[in-house]
Amino acid sequence: MAEFDYDVLVIGSGPGGYVAAIRAAQLGLRTACVESRETLGGTCLNVGCIPSKAMLHASEYFDAAANGAMAKLGIKVTPELDLPTMHAQRVDAVKQLTGGIEYLFKKNKVTWLKGRGAFVDAHTVQVGEQTVTAKDVVIATGSSVTPLPGVTIDQKVVVDSTGALELPMVPAHLVVIGGGVIGLELGSVWRRLGAKVTVVEYLDQILPGFDGDVRKEANKIFRKQGIEFKLSTKVTGVTVEGDSATLTVEPAAGGAAETISADVVLVSIGRKPNTDGLALEKAGLATNARGQIEIDHRFKTAVDGVWAIGDVVPGPMLAHKAEDEGIAVAENIAGQTGIVNHDVIPSVVYTWPEIAGVGLTEEVAKERGEIKVGKFPMLGNSRAKTNHEPDGFVKIIADAKSDRVLGVWCIASVAGTMIAQAAQAMEFGATSEDIAYTCHAHPTHSEAIKEAAMAVRGKPIHI
Ligand code: FAD
Ligand code: NAI
Repeated sequence: MAEFDYDVLVIGSGPGGYVAAIRAAQLGLRTACVESRETLGGTCLNVGCIPSKAMLHASEYFDAAANGAMAKLGIKVTPELDLPTMHAQRVDAVKQLTGGIEYLFKKNKVTWLKGRGAFVDAHTVQVGEQTVTAKDVVIATGSSVTPLPGVTIDQKVVVDSTGALELPMVPAHLVVIGGGVIGLELGSVWRRLGAKVTVVEYLDQILPGFDGDVRKEANKIFRKQGIEFKLSTKVTGVTVEGDSATLTVEPAAGGAAETISADVVLVSIGRKPNTDGLALEKAGLATNARGQIEIDHRFKTAVDGVWAIGDVVPGPMLAHKAEDEGIAVAENIAGQTGIVNHDVIPSVVYTWPEIAGVGLTEEVAKERGEIKVGKFPMLGNSRAKTNHEPDGFVKIIADAKSDRVLGVWCIASVAGTMIAQAAQAMEFGATSEDIAYTCHAHPTHSEAIKEAAMAVRGKPIHI
């Protein structure tokens, strides 16, 4: 009889966990995955990437019809919002994709153990009434919403991202606390559907972590779209009375407080790693000061046989980062060499236009050494111009001596798709010249990446 019930036990079935489980099974390891939700797929498929993109996609059509963008193309329509149908297509997308993971588990012979997992020791996990053992355990428990002290999320008037995906009515005034990715994506959804949206951000600019030029330009574009921003402002309290809320805000640097009333308040000030109830201490593990589980470059924790990936470990909280770590950890467990290049993880904000970046910001690159920067406006790109999408630019940051590309940033309608070529080029160690001399199909938005690369040497053609 085998010493352990399973070779690999994965706790959590988000993009990190389900991918790790499938890859481990593909490598011939007897694998189980513990998940406490009703459906597989974690935050991403159930309440994150997928449902938010379903609402962004649908609301984009509504907005194009409502704001005159379609009329400009010779299509006269007066849209009527059918919010229940819009929500139904969101729910359907989630159902299909979470069901798809269940199918993939069956196909790859991954056992789904339903329930919450808690360590008994490093190789033993309690799942409900059941105790299971495994030679290797992967913690992929993800993250959940960071609460704002003193503010209660009731999912009616004060909501988190999950509540904001499901609002039964378009609020007259939505106040978003936090001008990060969730605030801008979900704020955009409800702005497009008719809400007045105000974003209150503690820092002096939105989208921390993104390139400085991109943050400024994005803010300008969102303001033009009608979103109001209160930057350098902190929320000191939210009171709810009946169907509305009153926020008290004051300048971050101190000063006179003011109040803002709202029909719905979205709290989107970040996410925190999920380790509550895992009994990490029984496995001999502890979290760091930020609540994350520390790992080495192979995703191994401080305890032999226990590994961790995804949002629960340090690094950007992104689904594709979790997925790549899922593949790598399974390969490492199987004795292969699984690697993730954490210097080349793209980030995309799925607003209109999209905002995307990979590698270093100009600010960070400058701190590290001498750089050259090439910038090309989407206004000079024939496809963007033809499609009436003048906003945005592409920026390429290269090392001044070696010309190696250090970072690429785009604001463009399809920036999320464009950034893939930049990530691939960087993965291959490309120079800006390599990109400039790569033939790009015409007319595509991606030609702006080639032109930005040409601009690194000061020689773009179309501007
Ligand atoms: P998760 O997806 O959080 O999955 C962890 C799973 O583990 C959960 O299902 C949880 O129920 C389960 N679990 C936790 N503890 C236990 C336990 N003890 N026992 C059993 N099960 C347990 N990222 C992108 O890259 N692109 C996007 O467009 C994007 N959009 C987002 C939109 C929103 C609104 C949100 C909230 C997030 C979004 N993200 C996006 C982030 C993305 O969802 C996360 O980075 C990703 O889901 C992390 O994957 P994970 O596998 O680490 O964890
Ligand atoms: P975030 O970290 O992107 O943004 C939070 C914002 O809130 C920051 O700008 C921060 O300065 C601000 N803030 C913090 N405390 C505040 C306070 N008290 N008052 C006012 N502002 C305050 O976090 P967000 O938007 O909640 O997203 C969480 C995670 O989910 C992110 O790490 C992101 O990577 C991931 N995500 C990714 C998406 C994508 O890839 N398209 C989409 C949605 C989420």
